[in-house]
Amino acid sequence: MKYDLLVHNIGQLILPKSSSQPLKGQEMKQLDIIENAALGITDGKVTWVGPDEEAASFGSSERIDANGKVVSPGLVDPHTHLVFGGSREHEHSLKQAGVPYLEILAQGGGILSTVTSTKKASEEELFDKASFHLERMISHGVTTLEVKSGYGLDAETELKQLRVVKKLKEKYPISIVSTFLGAHAVPPAYKGKENEFLKEMTELLDEIRDAELAEFVDIFCETGVFTIDQSRQFLQDAKDKGFGLKIHADEIDPLGGAELAASLNAASADHLVAASDEGIEQLSRSDTVAVLLPGTTFYLGKDHYARARKMIDEGTAVALATDFNPGSCVTENLQMIMSLAALKLKMSAEEIWNAVTVNAAHAIGKGMDAGTLEIGKAANFVVWDATNYKYIPYHFGVNHAHSVYHSGNKLWERKPYGEIQLSSAR
Ligand code: NIG
Ligand code: FE
Repeated sequence: MKYDLLVHNIGQLILPKSSSQPLKGQEMKQLDIIENAALGITDGKVTWVGPDEEAASFGSSERIDANGKVVSPGLVDPHTHLVFGGSREHEHSLKQAGVPYLEILAQGGGILSTVTSTKKASEEELFDKASFHLERMISHGVTTLEVKSGYGLDAETELKQLRVVKKLKEKYPISIVSTFLGAHAVPPAYKGKENEFLKEMTELLDEIRDAELAEFVDIFCETGVFTIDQSRQFLQDAKDKGFGLKIHADEIDPLGGAELAASLNAASADHLVAASDEGIEQLSRSDTVAVLLPGTTFYLGKDHYARARKMIDEGTAVALATDFNPGSCVTENLQMIMSLAALKLKMSAEEIWNAVTVNAAHAIGKGMDAGTLEIGKAANFVVWDATNYKYIPYHFGVNHAHSVYHSGNKLWERKPYGEIQLSSAR
């Protein structure tokens, strides 16, 4: 047997179960682990997985000694707002003073403040800034992610953001899925004329589809933003035009976004902090993935988190994401979200790994391509500075990634230790 690349001496190889559907409820507790494993890669694809001792005699053009470390599939971040202008640290003190998120938005700040900065920025500036944040995500183990527009709220700027995502796809050898979130907020000029605004956003859909600028359409369904009826109409129009659906659902108020997502067979319903019992039940009976964003709840300073335990116990498919954005969750670090899921959502380590790999992939229509390390799939994997998989959510707030690979190619590797200058030149 001869491989292009053989990763050997793996302490634990994490193998989420692959399926054409996301893992639901109890299935999320299953996580296969091979101790002392090896991984064979040919033409960028996984071609062999098994015990290290069997691999000892295999030939390979290149070998990587994992030194007893954990190896997992590349992480999948299924909800990010990666492309934006400016930043919002000036709103931090408002938050500290207890001004609610929707109040800051109603005063023309929040999302609308980032809209102003994004309109001002050139396409090149947005691209450079997004590249910086994307490289930080990759260095934290992400090899597949979703990126939304939504800081334009007019044709010109929304298309500018989506073109930036397309250029990121062309530049970076990873997997990026693009979502049109033109319905992210109501521009001040359209206050009271929300239907008119949504009509304009709907009119962009043909152009976006024909230019292959987005695969999914999303809407912020929330008090003071878009109603359930408006969301249903907008998403149905997008579905009719062939887009996959996502919803910012029941983040602050229980409007019925979870129910809407299930009834439209959306790929995902995201946030769900306030989802009703009925909403959770309907999700559990659907294939819609509940994408939970505990980093956002944490960063907004709230005590009440999405009811992940109830969702999983009732049979819902749960995924986790950063929601990286300049206002409600300013981190590129999905590992930090894994720790919050353990501490605040009370998810087990097995559920968490499934939620950032296979289920996250299903939430963005990549279930058959990403999130697992089965034979024939792209060899996207991370070598971790840990000897067991439970260690990573346990030790929070730092980067545990040792090296990150996409299709068998190394994208990133941390610097070796021992480089701290022990005496400084005066
Ligand atoms: O998912 N809730 C709506 N949208 C984003 C926040 C965007 C922002 O504040 O800039 C979210 O949290
Ligand atoms: Fe979001």
